[in-house]
Amino acid sequence: MRYSDDLIEEIRSRNDIVDIISGYANLKKKGNSYLACCPFHHEKTPSFHVSREKQMYHCFGCGVGGNVYTFVMEHENITFPEAIETLAEKAGVQLPKEDLSEQAKRQEDKKIVIKDMNKLAAGYFHYLLKKERGEKAYAYLLDRGITDETIIKFGLGYSDIYSDDLYKYLKSKGYTDEQLKDSGLIKIDEVHGASDRFWNRVMYPIIDVRNRVIGFGGRVMGDGKPKYINTSDTPIFDKSRNLYGLNLAKKSRRKDIIFCEGYMDVISMHQAGFDNAVASLGTALTVGQVNLVKRFTDNVYLAYDSDGAGIKAALKALEILREFEISARVISLKPYKDPDELIRAEGMQTFEKRIETAESGIMFEITVLSEAYDQKDPAARTAFQKEVAKKLATIEEPLERKNYLQAVVARYQIDEKNLSNVVTRYGTNIIKIDNSIFEQGQTRKSPSEQKEEKKHEPQKLLLSWLIDEPALFQKLDGIIEPKDFYESIYHEIATIIYRQFEEKGEVMPAVILNRFTDIEEQKKAADIVHTKLKMELSPEEKEKAITDVVKKVKLASINHEINHTKDMKHQQTLITERGKVAKLHISL
Ligand code: GTP
Ligand code: MN
Repeated sequence: MRYSDDLIEEIRSRNDIVDIISGYANLKKKGNSYLACCPFHHEKTPSFHVSREKQMYHCFGCGVGGNVYTFVMEHENITFPEAIETLAEKAGVQLPKEDLSEQAKRQEDKKIVIKDMNKLAAGYFHYLLKKERGEKAYAYLLDRGITDETIIKFGLGYSDIYSDDLYKYLKSKGYTDEQLKDSGLIKIDEVHGASDRFWNRVMYPIIDVRNRVIGFGGRVMGDGKPKYINTSDTPIFDKSRNLYGLNLAKKSRRKDIIFCEGYMDVISMHQAGFDNAVASLGTALTVGQVNLVKRFTDNVYLAYDSDGAGIKAALKALEILREFEISARVISLKPYKDPDELIRAEGMQTFEKRIETAESGIMFEITVLSEAYDQKDPAARTAFQKEVAKKLATIEEPLERKNYLQAVVARYQIDEKNLSNVVTRYGTNIIKIDNSIFEQGQTRKSPSEQKEEKKHEPQKLLLSWLIDEPALFQKLDGIIEPKDFYESIYHEIATIIYRQFEEKGEVMPAVILNRFTDIEEQKKAADIVHTKLKMELSPEEKEKAITDVVKKVKLASINHEINHTKDMKHQQTLITERGKVAKLHISL
């Protein structure tokens, strides 16, 4: 059974490669990629690289490489269709029913039952809130300034004081103990029998982007511990891939998304008109959540708690957001603890002002950094300035880097020239590290393999060049076509990237690999995608190098055609064409 290309791509794009590989290898961030000891061969020093940007991995020690499918196929020793099923399951993508294995079908059915139980539970909790039994919870919410309208919008509810109230209710709807156990809402113990996970709590249903109740957060009324409990993990409740409030925030007219820490913050903010607020489900921001948000915006605000934990969480979030090229600003809530408190005390206008004056992520990081150094102590000040320079050096865009540099100089009274010099020094170091990544060891190959490779080297080089610098497509228009890459795998890759460029104006390396269902082919394709050129060429050298490679590819292609055509007239045309190749020049 063959899945559609769109589906294969959707599943690939929903499974972040760093996320997936993190489950198998201890990835450490280095420059633009992640580094680990290779899970496919034994080594003491790490040479296994994972690029989040490219969504590819590559080991410079043993030469393996590929996208997330290749990894799962290779690591689990499974086929391509099985890898699709595995990753679809992980990302919560529904596969067409008839394509599923028996086991996967059972899992799907189970999810539907869990979803139904959650929906019923949400309705039941919401119903209780306005009954006599829920009086205390209702009063609690009113006391926190929550209106009836908001209660309805968020489907807030109450879980009763009896420890098996929900159990009895769901039982009456015909669910079996086995099913209830799977719901994440009921505990079934052989000795003590059934009991509800939530009792005597204010209930916050957690609704996913597709508007399905997937679980709950339950808050104690008052100061009891634990303050919150969440539904336990179930096949539909994955804390790392969902955001509280996103079902509403995605419909907001505001263009950005505001991340906060708590359920009450989200509720309070929506009530005040900031209906673009979302929150993690009690954990730090995850890659899965950023992936989710990336579909809606490239601009976010962080409105995290103003305490130490909140600051730490914000720093961590900024790191992830940066990797996804999402620009982030940090809203200061001081002197209040969280958005809910600020809004309750000062109202929406103040919050609106706080949004306007929010600090960019990098300035926030520098501010936090500055607090760790005694600015009056010369040694500490030097250390601080070095750290700042390192930070500034990571800004790729020169103009942006300069603007931040000036802002820092003004704020901390640093000499501009000096700081700028240090930044440049760190900047060049960073570039060096990145390049070194791609110039390490080569894989050992047999002499015949080497010879074969040498023959196709120009095709491989040109392909990887096109993948790296899509601007070349225009330069090669009318000169090189996919058919000039005549060796089968190169031809296939060429066809894919030419089409990608035509349709999207860019090339996505990880998508190329979707096409190859055989693991060996995938690895070969990955190798081509990974071939990196040493780019420290001067513009003239580069033109010469490109022209050279193009000529070689064109010549080989024409020769190949001459050898394979029996049509004499066509042969003549080709020979004339071949004569013109020598005069080719590509100007960049
Ligand atoms: P309020 O105190 O009602 O205003 O809640 P809050 O949303 O401001 O809570 P807080 O800032 O203390 O925590 C932020 C988020 O962390 C909450 O919304 C929960 O998702 C989670 N959280 C807080 N306390 C607990 C806890 O005791 N257990 C668990 N599992 N999660 C918690
Ligand atoms: Mn709070």
